[in-house]
Amino acid sequence: MAATKVTFGAKQARATAQAASLFDTPVIVDQLHDAEEMNAALKAVITKRMSQDEGITISNVGGWHSDTRMLEWGGEAAFALCEKMIATADRFTVDIKAKDQPRYKWLPEMWANVSPPGASNGQHSHPGCFWSAVYYVDDGYGGSADPNLGGELVFFDPRMPMIRMNAPDLRFRRPGQPPDHDENRMRPATGRFVIFPSWLNHAVRPYNGKGRRISIAVNLTAYPLPAANRS
Ligand SMILES: [Fe+2]
Repeated sequence: MAATKVTFGAKQARATAQAASLFDTPVIVDQLHDAEEMNAALKAVITKRMSQDEGITISNVGGWHSDTRMLEWGGEAAFALCEKMIATADRFTVDIKAKDQPRYKWLPEMWANVSPPGASNGQHSHPGCFWSAVYYVDDGYGGSADPNLGGELVFFDPRMPMIRMNAPDLRFRRPGQPPDHDENRMRPATGRFVIFPSWLNHAVRPYNGKGRRISIAVNLTAYPLPAANRS
């Protein structure tokens, strides 16, 4: 039996065929302007906490990871940042069965990371939460655009990556767009925050700057409100 010749190219597709993109993964990025005062306050409170508490180790490889109660010790700046995160998350979330009153409230959890040269975070997700976020108090780059400084936030393609093992160099052809990749790297920037679905696997590449990277992470869990307390 002769083998069927299969080629992967545009010639075989009818000109009328179109592809719909289904099941998008939202990754929300925003930049806070005039955040110097807030960043100074956050840096001060984090530095103080780090001098008093040895921190914990979860996904961090090196560096200092605070406890997850930063909303208790982070002061007004931490509250303001959390409110901004929640307001943004609200803009990108809809309860498809809500009527006149909200049925959920966000339960936030916040912690700080201080990363010296060489620190990184292994791949992980945040089961049970809805949105996860990171805010960069100080990207640690000192104004340099040198890509060798590393420290990128990495997102991993959640669409059944095991299938790729059979043909790792094939990608979906998307007209007008570059081929997608197994991972997407985002370079941090001071004053920037990124919000993403908590199930999306992510990691942080080793930071190779000379200073310290200071970032804040937030998890938002959707807490169902009792019907009588909805407001
Ligand atoms: Fe994380």
